[in-house]
Amino acid sequence: MAYGLLKGKRGIISGALDENSIAWKVALKAKEEGATFTLTNAPIAMRMGAINQLAESCEAEIIPADATSVEDLENLYSKSIETLGGKIDFVLHSIGMSPNIRKGRDYGHLNYDWYVKSLDVSALSLHKMLHVAEKLDAINEWGSVVGLSYIAAQRSYPFYTDMADAKAVLESIARNYGFRYGKAKNVRVNTISQSPTRTTAGSGIGGFESFYAFADKMSPLGNASAEDCASYVITLFSDLTRMVTMQNLFHDGGYSSTGISEELMQMIQQQQQ
Ligand code: NAI
Repeated sequence: MAYGLLKGKRGIISGALDENSIAWKVALKAKEEGATFTLTNAPIAMRMGAINQLAESCEAEIIPADATSVEDLENLYSKSIETLGGKIDFVLHSIGMSPNIRKGRDYGHLNYDWYVKSLDVSALSLHKMLHVAEKLDAINEWGSVVGLSYIAAQRSYPFYTDMADAKAVLESIARNYGFRYGKAKNVRVNTISQSPTRTTAGSGIGGFESFYAFADKMSPLGNASAEDCASYVITLFSDLTRMVTMQNLFHDGGYSSTGISEELMQMIQQQQQ
């Protein structure tokens, strides 16, 4: 059911790679809620072509941008403003990539060039997006910027390796730039800490299916889906959350506040018998 929450708003949505992507679901919901927006992804991701389908159904233009390139981001904002006919009201940062995870390096054996790449792509890119927006004065007053995070920013999940550090940096940038941009232009910046979700980035993490099942059994509501995540993102883009900023908001079915569940206790008891 649509509520018209984003009627008249203009946005930029990054990170829609295929129909499993969280950003893909956000785009579909943003359209349903009355927004107009541009889609963006790294030029290399465009080769897969799936984003064209999304662009067609959302009547959105695609503007390629490597989120680590300030020049590409300048072009992204300028072209988006031109195409959409005015300044931007919301931005989704839905970007993550770790060469160390891709190549199966554990935390004690990281390649440092790749480590820097993970931090640049997955975290510093949010700073760059905010910095370029501020410099170009591209976002309207009370605009909203949302990034996607994971609880490995606060707790140790060994298989998450350097992405854990990237997420900690991402959340810190949301807090610190949130203060700056809030003071300057009343622009809000938050991160959503999402449950494990079956996407290209998610499934690439070692042992994904096991920790997906673990989190599902731990959470009283079960794991939050990508669709549910998209709905939460939409509320943060809307005027209903005008005073929410500099937050890391858990969207995880209660996982982050649970010590242990009866289901997991039973599984351990069975093992001990
Ligand atoms: P996804 O693989 O569909 O999306 C990741 C996106 O990042 C892709 O579209 C990819 O092309 C883009 N990207 C990579 N390098 C880029 C660059 N240099 N410039 C621009 N874009 C680039 O996977 P998903 O899960 O939808 O990921 C979206 C966000 O959600 C990521 O930040 C991820 O860490 C976060 N997240 C995912 C969870 C999961 O279990 N899937 C859980 C919690 C957070």
